[in-house]
Amino acid sequence: MATVGILTSGGDCPGLNAVIRGAVLKGETVYGQRFVGFLDGWRGLIEGEVMPLDRSSVRGLSHEGGTILGTSRVGPYTDPHGGAENIAKVLDTLQVDAVIAIGGEGTASAAKRLYADGINIVGVPKTIDNDLDATDYTFGFDTAVEIATEAIDRLRTTGNSHKRCMVLEVMGRHAGWIALYSGIAGGAHAILIPEQPESLDQICAWVTSVKDRGRSPMVVVAEGFRLPDMDSAHSTKGLDGFNRPRLGGVAEVLAPLLEERTGIETRATVLGHIQRGGSPTGFDRVLATRLGMAVTDLVAEKGWGHMVALRGTDIVRVGFDEALANHKTVPVDQYQEIRVIFG
Ligand code: F6P
Repeated sequence: MATVGILTSGGDCPGLNAVIRGAVLKGETVYGQRFVGFLDGWRGLIEGEVMPLDRSSVRGLSHEGGTILGTSRVGPYTDPHGGAENIAKVLDTLQVDAVIAIGGEGTASAAKRLYADGINIVGVPKTIDNDLDATDYTFGFDTAVEIATEAIDRLRTTGNSHKRCMVLEVMGRHAGWIALYSGIAGGAHAILIPEQPESLDQICAWVTSVKDRGRSPMVVVAEGFRLPDMDSAHSTKGLDGFNRPRLGGVAEVLAPLLEERTGIETRATVLGHIQRGGSPTGFDRVLATRLGMAVTDLVAEKGWGHMVALRGTDIVRVGFDEALANHKTVPVDQYQEIRVIFG
């Protein structure tokens, strides 16, 4: 009977607990697998720190935000005690036969390397940014869009009262999916995403035309958006554990520029981690549960080096290589489709 260790790594995401529940319930019921959870992502695997996971410990979990296992941005190769050799020893000591890594791009890259180094590992894709090419949607994204849409609705009422331009910044490092979807849902007058450059003149023209017809402009900007004179995305908070710049604050750069150029009083709101917190939507709970269940099939079939993914309405499996080949960014025609009604 196989013992499987589950870990959640990288930024958390509504739906992680539903994945864990789906995996434990199906793994136990259908395959007789046993589970433990590694605490705080790769750190728990490197240090051999685990919690028991069984049917009773995942009871009622699918609606709970966050992750009962904890997470971190520690990489399995960056920690001095990490590396495949040490990890293999930890797995041996704990008598764990396989690892399920639930995470985004950084986690999948690390898992790919561990697989190449001989570790029995499979994956479940996760990111609110929805930027993993292997899967049509990642759980957490729908929840983030709901939260951002509600923020837009709320900003619009206060913006209307004061006749201000409101700028909302949402997450989206490489891809503007959250900005695009919430911006469309909330009826934003301009949506700015990392994939598509827009000049300050153009953004000001949209804002002014909204104001000229007596409305209060609503601009949604993804954290990874760059104005043409910016060499890289706005970052003033150093690097994260995967050596990526911590983004955030481009709305605060943009708002004073818009106010100065258009003469319209402008306020910026950075939505931040509110987008990642709280209970997942029904859609995300279903997707996360299905992925969690499906990853136990991968373990049962020893499909190491693969992750489960959503294609259309089917859960499929893809190799880490394929999953990591490209970011799933917003296609230009999908942006242009909505851009024609900006302003
Ligand atoms: O990668 C997902 C993400 O939500 C990004 O959009 C954002 O830049 C990052 O995580 C923030 O991470 P942290 O929780 O480390 O601040």
